[in-house]
Amino acid sequence: MTHVLPALSDIVIKTERLVMRPLAVADAQAFATAASDPRIGDVMDHIPTPCPAELVSAWAADAPDGITAGTDYSLVITDKAQNTLLGAANLGRMVALGVSGRQFELSYWLAPSHWGNGLATECATGLRDWAFETLKAGGLRAACAMTNKASTRVLEKTGFHFINTTAFDASGKLPARLRTNFRMDKPRWEALTQHSHLSTAS
Ligand SMILES: CC(C)(COP(=O)(O)OP(=O)(O)OC[C@H]1O[C@@H](n2cnc3c(N)ncnc32)[C@H](O)[C@@H]1OP(=O)(O)O)[C@@H](O)C(=O)NCCC(=O)NCCS
Repeated sequence: MTHVLPALSDIVIKTERLVMRPLAVADAQAFATAASDPRIGDVMDHIPTPCPAELVSAWAADAPDGITAGTDYSLVITDKAQNTLLGAANLGRMVALGVSGRQFELSYWLAPSHWGNGLATECATGLRDWAFETLKAGGLRAACAMTNKASTRVLEKTGFHFINTTAFDASGKLPARLRTNFRMDKPRWEALTQHSHLSTAS
């Protein structure tokens, strides 16, 4: 079944405290400054430490192509009240990996000064709902290092469930290590959101 993909300019995903929108060249310096903390590069394989603004500019210049194709949604996480950049997130369609159906992989990071306030869970929940409602995802995947307890907890709170643990060494930058893989299929999301609507109504 075909459906209309959201246009670049229409992508504004709001939660109580956050706004997620496409990465733009104007975000490059703020993104690079936040992402240069080694605690980000240590776990996000594609982010070097330090992270040069020129590299982020190049990602931002490419971002509209992925969004227009409906394959890669490279987003920034901003503070709704202050309009400042807090981190970044991505929803990437898993076509190249031979995964059938409209499966998207979710990833995210926040500047360390914003950790511990429930923001990653709020972001992941907002992107989860947007992926199923607007992108018509059939399912979501996510993965993190087995030692990444905070991200594991974020995924559990968002409704993902454990699939398995595999060896992972995508970039060669990091030593081979174990990663935990998670998924959430549409029926599970429907059950979760139906339940939360009922809870809100009661
Ligand atoms: C993972 C990350 C996004 C979490 O952000 P956050 O806004 O602090 O997350 P939240 O506050 O929504 O939730 C964190 C949960 O993990 C728990 N947690 C944090 N550190 C933990 C640890 N060492 N052991 C166990 N639980 C831990 C928190 O207590 C909280 O759970 P709770 O609400 O049940 O108490 C942030 O640490 C980060 O950006 N890390 C670097 C990038 C990364 O790991 N990205 C994920 C890979 S896809």
